[in-house]
Amino acid sequence: MDNAFRIGERIYFRPIELEDAPRLARWINDPEVHRGLTAIFPKNQPREREWIEGLGKRPDEVVFLIVLKEGDVPIGSCGLHQIHPANRKALFGILIGEKAYWNQGYGTEAVRLISEYGFNTLNLHRLELTVYENNPRAVRAYEKAGFKLEGRRREGRFWEGRFWDVLEMGLLDREFRELEEARRAPAERAGKEAEGAAPGKAPAPRPAAERCKEVCQT
Ligand SMILES: CC(C)(COP(=O)(O)OP(=O)(O)OC[C@H]1O[C@@H](n2cnc3c(N)ncnc32)[C@H](O)[C@@H]1OP(=O)(O)O)[C@@H](O)C(=O)NCCC(=O)NCCS
Repeated sequence: MDNAFRIGERIYFRPIELEDAPRLARWINDPEVHRGLTAIFPKNQPREREWIEGLGKRPDEVVFLIVLKEGDVPIGSCGLHQIHPANRKALFGILIGEKAYWNQGYGTEAVRLISEYGFNTLNLHRLELTVYENNPRAVRAYEKAGFKLEGRRREGRFWEGRFWDVLEMGLLDREFRELEEARRAPAERAGKEAEGAAPGKAPAPRPAAERCKEVCQT
């Protein structure tokens, strides 16, 4: 792993560097990718570099590159924007630009990992996002990560010759913690059962990878 800032099960987050400008522009300019984004104009590399140079200067925004642990392959980016200290909320955005990796759970894992950072490090209370109704893959990934549908702005997005609704989704810190607890529960139960199965004997140490996974996710 190279310059990892947050580590998940199969992915990690690292800061975006100037050298990433060409791949970011390629991702955003791909019509299948930006059909889910607000971008409707092409991005050239000077603009992309300018944007990257601005990262880290604003206190209300944090953006990461999403990288596969296996092979250190950059596959996308995600971030928290408009971080609001009084309301303790932020706007979430994501793109997996390498389309070969769609539908393999990486988007959902990235949402969980950035939620963990937002709630447990930045002390946020709420994450929110907007998603277009013609982007069911994104809606499904957000639902799997715990986001709930909160509203619908009718016909707020024009794309491919017609208007589509814009959906509003949100996730609260307590909801995130309940979900994480539920996700951990089966592993903990299995651990307790193993303990009970051999009375009088100390439980066998769990594999290091499993322990690391828990530490990284709490
Ligand atoms: C949206 C995005 C982040 C999702 O990432 P991903 O890694 O492909 O998502 P996941 O694999 O975690 O989850 C996708 C889910 O949607 C499902 N799905 C895919 N196509 C679908 C469709 N047409 N209708 C309904 N569900 C669909 C998948 O089967 C999967 O659900 P499952 O695990 O229950 O089977 C990614 O596709 C992307 O970056 N797209 C382009 C940019 C974009 O739209 N960003 C979001 C802006 S709001």
